Amino acid sequence: MKLFHFLFLCFFTNTLFNFSSAANVTYDARSLIIDGQHKLLISASIHYPRSVPGMWPGLIQTAKEGGVDVIDTYVFWNGHEPSPGKYNFEGRYDLVKFAKIVQQAGMYLMLRIGPFICAEWNYGGIPVWLHYVPGTVFRSDTAPFKYHMQKFMTLIVNLMKKEKLFASQGGPIILSQVENEYGNYEQFYEGAKRYVNWSAAMSVSLNTGVPWIMCAQDDAPDPVINTFNSFYFDFDTFKPNSPNKPKFWTENWPGWFRTFGARDPHRAAEDIAYSVAHFFQKGGSLQNYYMYHGGTNFGRTAGGPFMTTSYDYEAPIDEYGLPRLPKWGHLKELHRAIKLCEHALLKSKPTTLSLGPNQEADVYDNGLGVCAAFLANNDNKTDMNVVFRNVSYHLPAWSVSILPDCKNVVHNTAKVGSQASVLKMVPEKLQPSVGSPTRSLKGLKWDIFVENAGIWGVADFTTNGFVDHINTTKDTTDYLWHTTSITVGENEEFLKKGSRPVLLIESLGHALHAFVNQELQGSASGNGSDSSFKFKSPISLKAGKNEIALLSMTVGQKTAGGLYEWVGAGLTSVKIEGLNNGTLDLSMSSWTYKIGLKGEHLGIYNPENLSAVKWVSTSEPPKNQPLTWYKVVVDPPSGDEPVGLDMLHMGKGLAWLNGEEIGRYWPIEVPKHLALECAEECDYRGKFFQDKCLTGCGEPTQRWYHVPRSWFKPTGNILVIFEEKGGDPTKITFSKRKTSGVCSLISEDYPAVDQESMLKEGSENGRTRPNVHLKCPKDTRISNIKFASFGNPTGKCGSYSTGDCHDPSSTIVVEKVCLGKRECSVELTEENFDKSLCPGTTKKLAIEAVCS
Ligand SMILES: *[C@@H]1O[C@H](CO)[C@@H](O)[C@H](O)[C@H]1NC(C)=O
Ligand SMILES: *[C@@H]1O[C@H](CO)[C@@H](O)[C@H](O)[C@H]1NC(C)=O
Ligand SMILES: *[C@@H]1O[C@H](CO)[C@@H](O)[C@H](O)[C@H]1NC(C)=O
Ligand SMILES: *[C@@H]1O[C@H](CO)[C@@H](O)[C@H](O)[C@H]1NC(C)=O
Ligand SMILES: *[C@@H]1O[C@H](CO)[C@@H](O)[C@H](O)[C@H]1NC(C)=O
Ligand SMILES: *[C@@H]1O[C@H](CO)[C@@H](O)[C@H](O)[C@H]1NC(C)=O
Ligand SMILES: *[C@@H]1O[C@H](CO)[C@@H](O)[C@H](O)[C@H]1NC(C)=O
Ligand SMILES: *[C@@H]1O[C@H](CO)[C@@H](O)[C@H](O)[C@H]1NC(C)=O
Repeated sequence: MKLFHFLFLCFFTNTLFNFSSAANVTYDARSLIIDGQHKLLISASIHYPRSVPGMWPGLIQTAKEGGVDVIDTYVFWNGHEPSPGKYNFEGRYDLVKFAKIVQQAGMYLMLRIGPFICAEWNYGGIPVWLHYVPGTVFRSDTAPFKYHMQKFMTLIVNLMKKEKLFASQGGPIILSQVENEYGNYEQFYEGAKRYVNWSAAMSVSLNTGVPWIMCAQDDAPDPVINTFNSFYFDFDTFKPNSPNKPKFWTENWPGWFRTFGARDPHRAAEDIAYSVAHFFQKGGSLQNYYMYHGGTNFGRTAGGPFMTTSYDYEAPIDEYGLPRLPKWGHLKELHRAIKLCEHALLKSKPTTLSLGPNQEADVYDNGLGVCAAFLANNDNKTDMNVVFRNVSYHLPAWSVSILPDCKNVVHNTAKVGSQASVLKMVPEKLQPSVGSPTRSLKGLKWDIFVENAGIWGVADFTTNGFVDHINTTKDTTDYLWHTTSITVGENEEFLKKGSRPVLLIESLGHALHAFVNQELQGSASGNGSDSSFKFKSPISLKAGKNEIALLSMTVGQKTAGGLYEWVGAGLTSVKIEGLNNGTLDLSMSSWTYKIGLKGEHLGIYNPENLSAVKWVSTSEPPKNQPLTWYKVVVDPPSGDEPVGLDMLHMGKGLAWLNGEEIGRYWPIEVPKHLALECAEECDYRGKFFQDKCLTGCGEPTQRWYHVPRSWFKPTGNILVIFEEKGGDPTKITFSKRKTSGVCSLISEDYPAVDQESMLKEGSENGRTRPNVHLKCPKDTRISNIKFASFGNPTGKCGSYSTGDCHDPSSTIVVEKVCLGKRECSVELTEENFDKSLCPGTTKKLAIEAVCS
């Protein structure tokens, strides 16, 4: 039986994913049809430029182990065509390599070509240069936009065809997308419908041999499939726009993005699982997690304004590539349960039964012995016992139980059996490079280069008043210097009184540092909900001529919104208050401009351009000094754990390793005030929305910045930091992301059924005892049981505590089974625990173990 099962699986896998021959991909109202077979598909968004090629195979494999069938990615136009007709498909932008890794993993690919992608990515993925091609309005019926869009989409499709990557050619791509959530913004565009029709017709004419989709586009023209994006699939309002189109959920958001200065959003695994189970219960057939691995906005790719460099998204795989537990594990269990129902779900029509006021079952019974049922408790507060086919089932509030045989529950979305992990960022001091000729025995040797506060080299231009920041830099840099000078008379009262005049600045965004006579006077910035800001600060002026230098900055270009590319940034007003004459308005004065910084212009972060400036060497780098470049040659951190650069003690700026762009850093603190409270506790029950469960008040928005291991050389690594306003570089560390412990909490009523054998051998045989399963990362073992309680323990991983019901031998039992092992299972049996304890309560076992 077992052997047969094994052979069957191998055979099945081979035929399912045999890409050597062309597949016929079509669809009907139920699902995608691949070579005549209907499919239920679990899809996972992983964006190739948000990690590095060295991480791609591991990420894709982790997705596959998590029960994912399809990898989904956008195509990042502005990364591929940085200037008109100059293409980049190298490194992080090697789309063909990414697609082939998906293919080798035996998975499908959904290619969302865009060209607009939003994605919290700089400028929504459209190249900035295109905005300056006369007559262009992005995403509209304007000739230059359509010309460049068609040219790019044709290029991508032809590249995929050349490599035989469409399923119609034997490749992994089963779906492609054109445009992205355009339906939400049509009202801003003249001729929007013409543009939609043209986009669809143009895409279809590219003859990929696989279907096209448009998300959030209710009127997607045939044969393009309209699809849905949100936290829950809305069966009440969303309908496929033709009776032969299936229900596809292209974006289920298992977390949310973050902006600098904003709180940290969380979505519970139980609620995501509930939303997914509900989708398949009600006849959905393709569900995509946006994001499954969020990754990193390296360099200046973060959109904005104010998107953080981390795009972790609280996704099932974390920014560093590690499975996020229990989220990843819980969804894996869910996917397994759904796949056990695939046959029944695809072969029969559901019958909906009411099981209570807010409880219902959907039963897929073909009357020939194939039957699967989903029992839902949609009440957001009350747990319920329901009776289905004469059997009683306990349904926690806001949960779905999955019964692949209409009898046995193999999964309940609110019962998390997967272990959680305790993660630490373990700091390691920067180590001077042994191989470096400049190594100092005493420790690190720093090289320093300080930028002039104001114009360097030749000024770019002088004009009266202000210019639009983005129109001026064209996003080639974050930075734009505005300089002017004022003459202060000897007779100014403030000089005699020793007081200080006040500088008042208004800006459309995004951030600013104000310098007078080379001294930083203060900084100001907007935020993710309002990029504009006002600056108000006393300044130091002297009698005679004073140089005013204002460094205006963008922090990522807008990623969405109607006509978003026309939204400006930069200064609109500058005044000085508290002079004899009252207020001096400099808004229409003569201002001299310089685009970017000297070090940036010369590329002194690139190993080959290091000598373009004169660095000053020191073993004691200056602290709290603005406009300073720091360079240090270091060895890689020990071990092979993922690495985050700890910038807690720095101000704001940019960082590079060996010329690779780590990105913007800015450990700006999340404000702590009444209007912006943090959640004490997160209840998974009830509808989720992005502000439901926020944490991080009073903490830095982003402290650690991912530095991929593959960027390190064995020795002689050049770390370059540009600090804008001042920090302490001696406190910078490479911190290693380590799993220091694992936890699990399981209740006696946890559905414990050996899922595969259940369907094969009949219900009772498959039943097993619930058990707590723990597994430490490779090369580590369970060295200590920090907590163990059988009874009614409470709390979360890291802070469990015993309740009034507790078996005192819990720790001894767990130690006996687990100590010294990498992996162990503790069953909730009479042999192990005193089951007579506190009769009438459903008991739980909670364990926290240390891995070392
Ligand atoms: C592809 O499948 C559809 C139905 O799913 C069928 O109508 C069509 O003939 C098939 N095309 C080829 C080339 O096999
Ligand atoms: C777009 O195409 C649809 C048919 O798919 C048609 O009914 C509609 O009139 C077209 N709209 C425009 C503005 O061309
Ligand atoms: C449930 O029980 C009733 C009464 O005992 C019986 O008539 C019915 O067939 C049972 N239904 C199922 C689905 O077993
Ligand atoms: C963003 O700035 C605006 C205007 O200063 C302020 O009202 C708002 O509370 C800020 N929002 C956040 C999330 O900090
Ligand atoms: C940017 O420049 C364009 C002309 O190229 C102009 O139409 C537009 O209004 C400017 N944007 C802003 C925000 O000033
Ligand atoms: C102050 O006002 C006087 C008289 O109106 C004018 O001559 C002088 O230039 C002003 N000084 C400044 C700093 O604006
Ligand atoms: C850096 O050096 C390379 C090679 O010498 C040169 O081509 C490039 O223009 C320089 N500048 C920058 C910004 O990288
Ligand atoms: C729970 O559901 C009730 C009734 O639908 C609703 O009024 C309430 O706002 C919901 N609460 C939460 C937390 O979702």
